[in-house]
Amino acid sequence: MFDVNQIREEFPILSREVYGRPLVYLDSGATAQKPRSVIETVDRLMRWQNANIHRGVHFLAEQTTEAYEEARARIAGWIGAAEKEEVIFTSGATASLNTVAYAWGERFVGAGDNILVSEMEHHSNLVPWQLLAQRKGAEVRMLPFDDTGRLRCELLGQLIDARTRVVAVTQASNTLGSRPDLRPVVDAAHAVGAIVVVDGCQGAVHGGVDVRASDFDFYAFSGHKLYGPTGIGVLFGKRALLEAMPPFLGGGDMVDRVTFARTTYAPVPLKFEAGTANFIGAIGLGEAVKFVQRFDPAEVEAYETALLRRAEAGLGEIDGLRIYGRTPDKCPIVSFNVEGVHPYDLGMILDKLGIAVRTGHHCAEPVMDHFGVTGMCRASLALYNTFSEVDALAEGLRRAVRMLRS
Ligand code: ALA
Repeated sequence: MFDVNQIREEFPILSREVYGRPLVYLDSGATAQKPRSVIETVDRLMRWQNANIHRGVHFLAEQTTEAYEEARARIAGWIGAAEKEEVIFTSGATASLNTVAYAWGERFVGAGDNILVSEMEHHSNLVPWQLLAQRKGAEVRMLPFDDTGRLRCELLGQLIDARTRVVAVTQASNTLGSRPDLRPVVDAAHAVGAIVVVDGCQGAVHGGVDVRASDFDFYAFSGHKLYGPTGIGVLFGKRALLEAMPPFLGGGDMVDRVTFARTTYAPVPLKFEAGTANFIGAIGLGEAVKFVQRFDPAEVEAYETALLRRAEAGLGEIDGLRIYGRTPDKCPIVSFNVEGVHPYDLGMILDKLGIAVRTGHHCAEPVMDHFGVTGMCRASLALYNTFSEVDALAEGLRRAVRMLRS
């Protein structure tokens, strides 16, 4: 059975205080806290097992290489990849998405082509496509969402055509919490031979993924939002696409044979892992996935949704508060503003009460533009949050609004 108090005991940071108050951490969408198993794995690797991978024949090198490849296999299994070679370790989702935009885009996108990007994307799944479009003379088109945060898939037929090469979309919006039904997106893209590139940063954490069943071509996520270390992420790609794609970064470990006349490359995934990999991060991420795999996804989903509903109910009682993103199946992210009050001021007062939320544009300025605001407050929940913490948020907001309005 899902026992939040037991889970909380595994996260040392959750027992600390800030400003003499118990920490109420509601910013897991920006980065999640780490369970002891991940912290201890990283500590053990640095203390006891550190050695570079894929390069040495000595004991430590082999032990660490084996653990790195085991982490790759675990992650591949967890996301439903057909084989572990389809999992590339990167420094994070941003690096994953840029890799596709540069390497795949370099070869397969040309002048007059178009790239369809949803309006609710994080900048990391928009700006790389704008850069690609500028280099190639291609066009970036926008797939809009409506005021509830629903992606307007009924417009796909008007926006996708024979020159569409890429459709870039999120599995779950980091601002609205929306989890769009990506089936029509995938079908419409594949019908014209376009690839689908999915940002799974929030989606991987809230609900997970089956990349094969979903038929995603590329899928990116970061370790640090998934209870793992910072500076590590994953790019999943279908093998045929990865093989057709030129390397992005050149250097050690990504080559087969190097001469001054010509270089041949290592097979995937190493072709895309130039330089010393963040093997400590990768093994730590494998441990984070092991942590997630301990839970029944349906139980976590039910619990997180109950927290979200409680948060929405509490916030809904505050005069002048507007919640952005109202789709019924949203993940536990609640972004809001209070009329006449600046989100930074709210965030700062909440902070003094020990409550950590994110304020600003959430790296999704087109979402802000949609609603005509420059910023929002955001509470993003995780499986270690409690009902009393979301109640504390509502109570803290009531106090903050009273202070700021008086
Ligand atoms: N992209 C992260 C967030 O949504 C940092 O907060």
